[in-house]
Amino acid sequence: MGALLELAVVIPTFNERANVPVLIAKLDQALAGRRWEAIFVDDNSPDGTADAARELGKVDPRVRVIQRIGRRGLSSACIEGMCATAAPMVAVIDGDLQHDETLLPKMLDRLQAEGDLDLVVGSRFVDGGGTGDWDRDRVAKSAFATRLSQRVLNVNLSDPMSGFFMVRTQVARETVPHLSGIGFKILLDIMSASPRPLRAAEMPYVFRLRTEGESKLDHVVAMEYLIALYDRRFGKVVPVRFAMFSAIGVLGVGVHMAVLSLFFVLLGASFLASQIVAVAAAMTFNFFLNNALTYRDRRLRGLKPLLDGWVSFCLVCSVGAIANVGVAAFLHDARANEWAVSALIGVLIGAVWNYALSSRFVWGR
Ligand code: GDD
Ligand code: MN
Repeated sequence: MGALLELAVVIPTFNERANVPVLIAKLDQALAGRRWEAIFVDDNSPDGTADAARELGKVDPRVRVIQRIGRRGLSSACIEGMCATAAPMVAVIDGDLQHDETLLPKMLDRLQAEGDLDLVVGSRFVDGGGTGDWDRDRVAKSAFATRLSQRVLNVNLSDPMSGFFMVRTQVARETVPHLSGIGFKILLDIMSASPRPLRAAEMPYVFRLRTEGESKLDHVVAMEYLIALYDRRFGKVVPVRFAMFSAIGVLGVGVHMAVLSLFFVLLGASFLASQIVAVAAAMTFNFFLNNALTYRDRRLRGLKPLLDGWVSFCLVCSVGAIANVGVAAFLHDARANEWAVSALIGVLIGAVWNYALSSRFVWGR
């Protein structure tokens, strides 16, 4: 038994109170004879997870707690935990007992024995691994996300979505400045953001069923995952926000046409009146959708901010529409392009205008 600290086990938690003492007992067993510490990174869970962990820390100095107040996020929690240890190796494991902690000593042995290996990944998709009792829906979703990440990021792992791995702390520390910290997929982030290709080995484990508490993986997280992937791959060419803004703009055109046909065709209103209603409906639709999605992180809330934001968004878009029509008409008159190309360039200019000004004046800080 060495006297030096060998391993830190980082445990991101949100509402895992009941699992805390069980996990520590299991780590104690699995890592008997090794020098280790556990670092809970808790986002101020309402159920008092941090308190439960500190209770243990009082009698067992191997148990440490980072309590983050006013922040949420699995990836960023893992990053903070990994940076908070003096141990040369650091593992990340879920706090809900779904990962197999008995793999930890084997991972540690492997990293200690093979100096050129950067990390060891617990995989559900190599021989001997498994996803336990997942329903078919989740298996399909997980397989899709896995394939997507392998294609988009060229990450050569059978289970790039795994949240269970061990890495040399130095390697993690070198990669941190390049990480986005968004979303759920810290391993994927590390693998794809590292300035040099990392050497990874995979070891099988079977994903266990959760018995206490509940999963935090929901649609918002799935969406964040897709955004993070996009950002990694294309973010430098077309920023995520602009892509979302434009996609929502396209939906807005659909709303416009629907409202227009409702008023003009079905209700027999005048074309001008129908157009005005359609434009107002489309702008309002775009404003609220952008507020909820594109600018989720700086969302306007409350009646007054929403009303102010809506008014300035409509102003920005009105000028954008004039620019759109003006540019298209100019190009068309100059016979520089086909009519359709002129119109598309107008649309593009209008979109860039709307995006640039609304990000500054509607959702700017
Ligand atoms: N600090 C912190 N902040 N911890 C969080 C947060 C958060 O916002 N959200 C979730 N956690 C913790 C949970 O308390 C749990 O310990 C761990 O992160 C995993 O969260 P779960 O909600 O249990 O995720 P899951 O079981 O659906 O997802 C697991 O499977 C994925 C593979 O399909 C996780 O292991 C993922 O890491 C893994 O990629
Ligand atoms: Mn879980």
